[in-house]
Amino acid sequence: MAAPILLENPLRQGLFSDRVPQPCSLVIYGASGDLTHRKLVPALFDLYEKHLLPSSFCLIGISRSKMSDAEFKAKLKDSLKKSEPQLSDSLWDSFSQNFHYLAGSYDDRNAYEALARRLDQVDRENGTAGNRIFYLSTPPNVFGDIVENLGLAGLNREDKGFSRVVIEKPFGHDLESAKALNVKVKETFKERQIYRIDHYLGKETVQSLLVMRFANSIFEPIWDRRYVDHVQITASEDLGVGTRAGYYDSSGVLRDMFQNHLFQVMCLIAMEPPVAFEANAIRDEKLKILKAIRPFNEDTVYQWAIRGQYGPGFLAGEKVPGYLQEEGVPAGSFAPTYAALKIFLDTWRWHGVPFLLRSGKRMPKRTTEVAIQFKEPPNLLFKNNLVNLAPNLLVVRIQPDEGITLKFETKVPGMSMEARTVNMDFRYGTAFAEGSSEAYERLLLDCMLGDATLFIRGDEVEAAWEALMPVISLWETTPPEHKFPNYEAGTWGPPDADNLLEKPWRKWRRL
Ligand code: BG6
Repeated sequence: MAAPILLENPLRQGLFSDRVPQPCSLVIYGASGDLTHRKLVPALFDLYEKHLLPSSFCLIGISRSKMSDAEFKAKLKDSLKKSEPQLSDSLWDSFSQNFHYLAGSYDDRNAYEALARRLDQVDRENGTAGNRIFYLSTPPNVFGDIVENLGLAGLNREDKGFSRVVIEKPFGHDLESAKALNVKVKETFKERQIYRIDHYLGKETVQSLLVMRFANSIFEPIWDRRYVDHVQITASEDLGVGTRAGYYDSSGVLRDMFQNHLFQVMCLIAMEPPVAFEANAIRDEKLKILKAIRPFNEDTVYQWAIRGQYGPGFLAGEKVPGYLQEEGVPAGSFAPTYAALKIFLDTWRWHGVPFLLRSGKRMPKRTTEVAIQFKEPPNLLFKNNLVNLAPNLLVVRIQPDEGITLKFETKVPGMSMEARTVNMDFRYGTAFAEGSSEAYERLLLDCMLGDATLFIRGDEVEAAWEALMPVISLWETTPPEHKFPNYEAGTWGPPDADNLLEKPWRKWRRL
């Protein structure tokens, strides 16, 4: 009997086979930081529990504060207990047995020599085989120094095993600084050794966009300007800037959410089928989309880009402060906490189809989704008796309540010709027994395996900055047309954002 077709499918094999990496050491710069405690170590722990960490694995944390190995581990354990309250001492001890800590300033060359010696020792004692990953989870202003010093200490070399560097966001503050950082990193590491993180690509549902599009045949024929009216990509957050005002005020929502997360999601929706399910084939296609973004000029920034900043308001019945009242925000700041962009992709497939992207803080809830709205039928047979037909929508819910919904019209039972919108619904939570993995879990594993598919290539980063720079520059040099704050916390953003929609049948989705 012929093998079932799904097992022969390389896409399926690539995605679902057991994947245990080779022995390696992971060095985290910024080891006392929030990301290490909240995301990286919990992700490593999940991998450990699933037996997906290599048989020989060692973690070396580095940051400026002085700490012993024992103190470092005690802090990590405390943080892990927040997400794993049942964590037993014995499980923690076996998970963390090869965790070490080195204090060092990021520009002190001796610290890198000491690290090299420590890694050699770890290789001898723990069998980590000379394979090294350097994870930069520090403030971005020291990325360049760390990379250079790793090179000077010979830690970029791959004569014994692999050497990879993972670079957290933000990769650059603008096009120039991103280019300069690319140059600097590439002086030391080859592109194949560089893993630029965008944690959105590690999200289960973001990856499932690829499977939805390229493991099914029903979507492709309607996936273009002939059938699609427009695409909406929303990433709304209920939280405000919290304690991150220092970073956020000089970034704003375009750098924080669009240059990376929203643009990457747009690429996965819009790109052509890649020739293989392989890092460079996929990144080549994403790059074409980023390069196809119709360049903004001063006029189109006014027409197609809307900015906002939240004022005081109510969320879940509680009064919350406005952005300007948050701790650390400079008086009179006009950093945008909300943006909506209308983007045109100058490609054959998407000519004339607006991609409407929006993201904001302090909106009514945390939701990320893609909604593809289809055109109305060419000849409306029912126009006399069915006036309120809603457009067909395919909605991919990235978070929370991950799943896919198709909305279409159907006849209401009865003697009259009445239509109503119904949903065909797929929910991850009910369709699968196993829950989704955390984004960092997937990304750390992929990096250990040397699979860069879900990481961003240098040219993609630059193309994304290039597309956004006209908007960022204009917004930073001209005060907003309508005085900030222009939306209340707990609302869906400034009313001006409706101007992007133009047509009566286009409406921002109320989520
Ligand atoms: C980060 C941004 O990259 O993404 C944050 O810096 C934002 O401001 C976060 O809150 C959103 O990520 P997620 O996974 O919660 O949607």
